Amino acid sequence: MDCKSVFDNGDIGFDIEAIRHQFPVLDPIQNTSSPLVYLDSAATTQKPLCVINAMNDYYRQQNANVHRGSHSLTANATAQFEQARNQVQHFIQAQHNKEVIWTRGATEAINLIAQTYARNTLKVGDEILVGEMEHHANIVPWQIVAKQTGAKVIKVPMTKDCQWDMSAFESLLSARTKIVAAAHTTNVTGTRQPIEQITQAAHRYGAIAVIDGAQGIVHETVNVQNLDCDFYVFSGHKLYAPTGIGVLYGKLDLLEAMPPWHGGGKMVQHVSFERTTFAELPAKFEAGTPNVAGAIALATAIDWLQHFNYAELTAYQHDLHQQLVDGLNEVEEVTIIGLQTNSSVISFKVTIDNEEVHHQDIATLLDQQNIAVRSGHHCAHPLMEALGINGTVRVSLGIYTNKQDISAFLNALTKSIDLL
Ligand code: ALA
Repeated sequence: MDCKSVFDNGDIGFDIEAIRHQFPVLDPIQNTSSPLVYLDSAATTQKPLCVINAMNDYYRQQNANVHRGSHSLTANATAQFEQARNQVQHFIQAQHNKEVIWTRGATEAINLIAQTYARNTLKVGDEILVGEMEHHANIVPWQIVAKQTGAKVIKVPMTKDCQWDMSAFESLLSARTKIVAAAHTTNVTGTRQPIEQITQAAHRYGAIAVIDGAQGIVHETVNVQNLDCDFYVFSGHKLYAPTGIGVLYGKLDLLEAMPPWHGGGKMVQHVSFERTTFAELPAKFEAGTPNVAGAIALATAIDWLQHFNYAELTAYQHDLHQQLVDGLNEVEEVTIIGLQTNSSVISFKVTIDNEEVHHQDIATLLDQQNIAVRSGHHCAHPLMEALGINGTVRVSLGIYTNKQDISAFLNALTKSIDLL
C-alpha cells in the first residue's frame, strides 16, 4: 500500500495500523526477523513508502541537474525542486520562498548562520547566549565563530527541570548580546522550550534569535512569522524524509545582507579573475549541485504529514507518553530525567544497589530483544555535566509508535534489569 491509496478517501484521521503499514521497515512480513520496536525516532525517523518511492521514482525516471541546461529533464527537475521549496515555505509559513535555503541539515544551517551572519557582524566583546542543554550543533558553531571574531559564548543555565531559565536569561541579556540560540525542543529530555518568550526577550535587546527546530518541528506546526524568530533550522530526516536535506529559514533582510558562505557553481552571477558577483537569494547560499531528490522527498514527507489531523496525532502521542511515564515510574530502578510534560522523548537512568548501570548496557540488552533506543550523551555534553551523569537511555516516539511498542519496551526493560 502506498501513501496515496491510504489518503484516497480524504483525511484518514489517525489509524495507527494504517500508518504502520506505510513503513516497510516495521512490516512484519517484509521484516522476517522478530518485529522491530523502533524507539529512536529523535535520532532519525523511519521513512514511509511514499518518501522511499519519491526518491526511487526521481532516480529511475527523472534524474537531472537543476537550474542548468535546457533539456526537458532538467526543466522538470528544476520545477519539482522549486515546488519543494514552496512547499517548505507554506509548511513553516514563511513570507517568501527565497527565505527557504536548502542545506544538508540543521547542523549545516547553524554553521551557515555562524559563518555568514555572525562572522560578519560580531565584534570583540559581543555575546552569544546559548542554552546549557543545547545539542552540540547549537553550541560548537558559535564557539568557532566566537574565536574568529573575539565574541563570547555565554551559557544560559537551565532549571532543575531542564527548562530554559528565563530569569537567569533576562539577567544575562544586555547591549552586548547579539545572538540568542535556543532549541525549540531539547533532544535529550524532550522539553519544549519557551521559544516565543526567548525570541521576544532577544529582540528587546536588539539581538537576533536562532531557533534549532530539529526536534520541535516534528511535533508542532510552526509559523515563523508569528514566532518572529530571525532564523529557524531543521533537518528532513527527523521529519520522515531522507538524510542529507535540511532547511535554513531566515528573514529576508538578514539573508539579503549576509555574504555567501560556500563558493561554487550556481551561487554566482558572473565570475572573472578580477571580480565575481553573487546570485540573488536563495541561490547565493546554494553552491554546487543540491540534493534534488532529497528536497523532493522532503516535500513528499511534508505533504504526507499534512494529511494527518495534528490534534488527533498529538492526543495519541500524549497517551503513549503517559503509558511510558506510568510504566517507567513503576520500575523502582529507573529515574526519569527532566520534567515530564507531554513529549515524545524520555530519557532515564537505571540504578541498581546504589550504582548507576551504564546506559550502553541497558541499550544493548534491549537491542537483543529487538528494541532500538538510543544511549549515550546525545551530543549534549554540557547538559550531561549539569546533570552530573555521563549519559542516559533515551526512548523517542514516532508517528508509527503504538501501545504494543511501549509495552514491549517496558517488558524488555524489566527483563534487562532482572538480568543485571
Ligand atoms: N540529534 C540526534 C539525536 O538527538 C542525532 O539523536
